[in-house]
Amino acid sequence: MVLELLDRKGDGYGNSSLTSRYLVKNKKEYAGDHALHHTNTWASWGRLDEIIKEGKTLLPYETGYVDEDQYWSNYMMGQHNRAASGQAYQLVQNVELSNRSKLVDLSGGAASYSIALCEANPLLKSVVVDCKEPLRIARTLVAEHNLQDRISFLEGNGFEVNLTQDYDAALISGVVLITSEEASRRMFKLAYDALVPGGIIMVQDYMRLDHSPERKKLDTMENLYVMVAFDPGAQDREGEEVASWLEDAGFINPKMIPLPTQLALITAEKPPAF
Ligand SMILES: C[S@@+](CC[C@H](N)C(=O)[O-])C[C@H]1O[C@@H](n2cnc3c(N)ncnc32)[C@H](O)[C@@H]1O
Repeated sequence: MVLELLDRKGDGYGNSSLTSRYLVKNKKEYAGDHALHHTNTWASWGRLDEIIKEGKTLLPYETGYVDEDQYWSNYMMGQHNRAASGQAYQLVQNVELSNRSKLVDLSGGAASYSIALCEANPLLKSVVVDCKEPLRIARTLVAEHNLQDRISFLEGNGFEVNLTQDYDAALISGVVLITSEEASRRMFKLAYDALVPGGIIMVQDYMRLDHSPERKKLDTMENLYVMVAFDPGAQDREGEEVASWLEDAGFINPKMIPLPTQLALITAEKPPAF
């Protein structure tokens, strides 16, 4: 009741409108896995003093709150909840990929956005790069969408993997927020080298493109969360800053695209060959 998750219904209790909207499986805006993912950091928050003093992070399976399988499953399905509840639609609506044929989805997680982009662009194929555990979940989701012939997987370190140099699109989603500046810059360079001239890069992340007071509060909370749960060097970034890293990597024409969700999008291009 206090949390507005339950309503009194006659002599008993039932779902509130909030619970009914976000916590009922199979509904479009279901975010239950995302909520579990956040809950899994419970024991890490309990050791905040240690985290701050030692400048480290504590992952949920390092505190013993959940095992590694559970952690990855909640984390990845939580990311997929976000995509399925509207983020994937926003990305598809805001990028023109109808003539693109080969996408590299760096740290692509559950492959949520590769799935959405391939479904929306019939010529497109995608290679999803990530570690073993996320790719296990991605494989299942890709099979559920019957996209096994268009989406393939490359297991490896997304910051230094060996890529062919024939991609005409690159997606980096949900990575800049959880890594250091140096690592983000490294990934932008990797994408630049993998793209053909004229290739497009899409950076979708929790970035600040607007500065409303409500957004400021959300950004502060998110900042603390990523330092505790991901990387001491992680930070919610200014869009302008991320765009400047793209330009430093060689990209041109950065476009800042605010979205009606908590994430924003920046696209840019590798210069055409002359
Ligand atoms: C917030 S998730 C985003 C996943 C997906 N791109 C999305 O937007 O739904 C961050 C992803 O980065 C991946 N990641 C983090 N460090 C990595 C590394 N060194 N190599 C490959 N992937 C990594 C994680 O496994 C995770 O899938």
